[in-house]
Amino acid sequence: MTAPPTPPQGYVFDNDSPHSARHHASLEEALDPLTLGHLREAGVAPGMDCLEVGAGAGSVARGLLRLVGPGGTVTATDVKPGRIAPEPGLTVLAHDVVTDPLPEAGYDVVVARLVLQHLPERQAVLRRLVRALRPGGLLQVDEFDAGHEPCLLVPSPADARLYERFTAAKSALMRAGGGDPTWGRRAPAALREAGLTGLRIRPHVLLRAPGTPALGLQLHHLDHLAPRLLDGGFTAAELDRLHAMMRDPEFAAATGVLYSVQGRRPLRTPAADGTPAAARATPRENDPSPEAT
Ligand SMILES: C[S@@+](CC[C@H](N)C(=O)[O-])C[C@H]1O[C@@H](n2cnc3c(N)ncnc32)[C@H](O)[C@@H]1O
Repeated sequence: MTAPPTPPQGYVFDNDSPHSARHHASLEEALDPLTLGHLREAGVAPGMDCLEVGAGAGSVARGLLRLVGPGGTVTATDVKPGRIAPEPGLTVLAHDVVTDPLPEAGYDVVVARLVLQHLPERQAVLRRLVRALRPGGLLQVDEFDAGHEPCLLVPSPADARLYERFTAAKSALMRAGGGDPTWGRRAPAALREAGLTGLRIRPHVLLRAPGTPALGLQLHHLDHLAPRLLDGGFTAAELDRLHAMMRDPEFAAATGVLYSVQGRRPLRTPAADGTPAAARATPRENDPSPEAT
């Protein structure tokens, strides 16, 4: 008897897919104002050296470049960086954040948006990202918790059930690959466990209604995952109905919660007795001011 094949581990989507351009455009439109706004508020400023891992099409990296000006640097990495358009001042690298080396204490700012929740090795990756920060440096992780993505307005109860089956199937595909669709809610504790202090946590929920980028993202996911949804028991008619439902002017749903979490690498290194710096430092969590230990 042969064992069932192991599903591919890691990222469920693929930057080489024809749906990927729309995926990244929707992410940029839906989330860049939040992501870049939080980085600006945290004091990301001219002259800083920044790293974005799993940069997708690089919109956040380009935004960082504008914040750090000609005196700063931005490196954008991805396992498939082909969608990151070159730009003066932007270094683009093919890099697997799980296995490829990162410079120790090389950056003032590190950003990872919607990457870690896809990776089974997320906690180890987080520790590597912390080591890539200079003392006092800032890590920002933006991740969804897809545990509750309610349907708000749908044409019929049957449509509501179909939409809920779709969101549940999406989460199941992510889990099968070792991802955690609800990791956003665990990100603050994970950052603290990785040794960061002065945590700032901001939850956001977006509307999925026709014309919104958050619904564009959902339609992209439907197209991108269609072959696997069909393998998993959806019929072509059900996928067509999902399309039609989400294009209905009356349709409305909410995203899960996007947690944007920031923390800083302590200025002091852990004590020789092994006490983690996070346990010794006493920043007020959710304090908007940068931590000073
Ligand atoms: C959901 S997309 C997010 C893209 C971008 N961070 C954004 O929010 O617009 C996830 C990205 O992570 C990349 N990725 C997945 N696994 C990776 C790995 N092990 N190392 C580096 N990048 C990875 C994917 O190729 C993809 O571009």
